[in-house]
Amino acid sequence: MTADLGQAQHTHWQSVYQANPHMYGDQPSEPAQYAAEVFAAEGATGVLELGAGHGRDSLSFARRGFSVRALDFSPEALEQLRVRARQDGVSDHLTTTVHDVRAPIPLPDGSVDGVFAHMLLCMALSTAEIHALVADVRRVLRPGGTLIYTVRYTGDAHYGTGIAHGDDIYEHGGFAVHFFDSALVDALAQQWELREVHAFEEGELPRRLWRVRQTKPR
Ligand SMILES: C[S@@+](CC[C@H](N)C(=O)[O-])C[C@H]1O[C@@H](n2cnc3c(N)ncnc32)[C@H](O)[C@@H]1O
Repeated sequence: MTADLGQAQHTHWQSVYQANPHMYGDQPSEPAQYAAEVFAAEGATGVLELGAGHGRDSLSFARRGFSVRALDFSPEALEQLRVRARQDGVSDHLTTTVHDVRAPIPLPDGSVDGVFAHMLLCMALSTAEIHALVADVRRVLRPGGTLIYTVRYTGDAHYGTGIAHGDDIYEHGGFAVHFFDSALVDALAQQWELREVHAFEEGELPRRLWRVRQTKPR
C-alpha cells in the first residue's frame, strides 16, 4: 500500500463522520460489552481504546467507571464523543487524543490496564504497521494486561473484491480494509498469551470478524 492511501483514508473518515454524525449508534458493540467484563474481572481501571470513532464503546466503558483514553485520527469523531460525554456526565472518566496509530502511542510504558480496538487494526495499515502497533500496545500495557481487538478476516464477502491496494487491503465505497488471515493473528500473538479467537458477524453485509483476546505475560 502507498502512503497516499493512509492520507486519503484520514480525509475520508473525517468527511464520513461530518456527513454522518454518530453513524455507529449509541449502543455499545458486543465486543465492547465482552471486553468490559474481561477488564472488570482483571481489576482494570485504565482502559485505552484505539480507533474509538465517535465513542459508542468508550462511552460505555466510562459509564462503567473505567478511566478511558480514546484515540482516533478523526478530530470530528472525537468532538462528537466529547459532546456526548458531557451530555452523559462522564467527561471526568474520559480523555480524547487525536492520533494516527501509524505513529507511536503517546503514553508511557506499562501505563494502561486494558486495550480495546474494534475494527481498527483492519484499517488501511500495512502488515508492518500492524506489527509495529501491536508491539507498541504491548509496551503501554502493564504486565498481565489484556488487548482485545476485532478485525475483518478473509472469510468476509468483501475480501478479494473492490480496489486492490496490495498486502490484503481492498477498498469498497471509499473504505479500505486490511483483511486478516489466521497466520497474521498468530504472528501478532508472538510474545503474548493468546486466550481466544472468536468469529462473529456485525452489520447488514454482514461484516465477518474475529474477536481476539491476548494478554501480556507477567
Ligand atoms: C470501522 S471504524 C470503527 C470505529 C469504532 N471503533 C466503532 O466501532 O464504533 C474505524 C475507526 O478507525 C479510525 N482510524 C482509521 N485509521 C486510523 C489510523 N491510522 N489511526 C487512528 N485512527 C484510525 C477511523 O477514523 C474510524 O473511527
